[in-house]
Amino acid sequence: MIQAQQAIGLFDSGIGGLTVANAILAQLPNESLIYFGDTAHMPYGDKSADTIRYFTKTIGAFLLSKDCKILVIACNTASSVAYDLLRDMAGNKAHVFNVIDPVVDEIIEKKYAKVGVIGTKGTIGSDVYHRKIVDRDPAVAVKQLATPLLAPMIESGFAHGQISQLVVEEYLQDPVLQDIDCLILACTHYPLIKKEIENFYADRNRKVDVLATNEIVARHIKRFMIENGLVNFEKKGKNAFYVSDYTESFEKTTQLFYQESIDLIHLPLFK
Ligand code: DGL
Repeated sequence: MIQAQQAIGLFDSGIGGLTVANAILAQLPNESLIYFGDTAHMPYGDKSADTIRYFTKTIGAFLLSKDCKILVIACNTASSVAYDLLRDMAGNKAHVFNVIDPVVDEIIEKKYAKVGVIGTKGTIGSDVYHRKIVDRDPAVAVKQLATPLLAPMIESGFAHGQISQLVVEEYLQDPVLQDIDCLILACTHYPLIKKEIENFYADRNRKVDVLATNEIVARHIKRFMIENGLVNFEKKGKNAFYVSDYTESFEKTTQLFYQESIDLIHLPLFK
């Protein structure tokens, strides 16, 4: 039986999923996390759906072997093509969450009518946000733009400053995104440049709600855990962070997120 004391497992191609991990810890401070950053294969956004499914299968098997109660696909690209696969793999051993469905719920609940979506080529190419939103409410206009430079830029440590500002401007000025009332940051790396994106709209006096999916997803998971008696009330164990390839920026960002000393474990899963 799935127990509250078990850990929550998450993965992403790199540091992006840490925004989800961080939001979960802010809301559920007693949870122990097991995080896998597949830095050897970053970026996921340019890979084929089959390749992403293969990565997900391998990482999913690893997280299941660690006895996680919950698995979070903390990556939009993998959520868009590998959610069903991971759910089937987990069976009744763990509950599986993607980062897309809770955001679609939010769009419908808040009644947004003109929704912009930015994400990797994989996420935007899958059309997943458009399909899921229009399925719930056909009257919502969904305008999508692939922004492939953003995740590698953030992963390489250029989240803030001139380069980031220029790239953000170039993308957000795209004609596709002109008439929107909210913008979904459909990549878990993007909360790290949320300020830059909000500044873009503030500077132009445009009212656009910028939705960072990490907090929405964390709230959704918390609600589920409360309803299912899965919140850990005991003293938590240490979080564990694994990477498939060691990168300095991953270590730096992890330290920034978590003031505690972290054990960054290099685990070449794909050898
Ligand atoms: N953070 C990921 C996402 O949400 C992947 C970014 C990438 O590796 O391209 O899509």
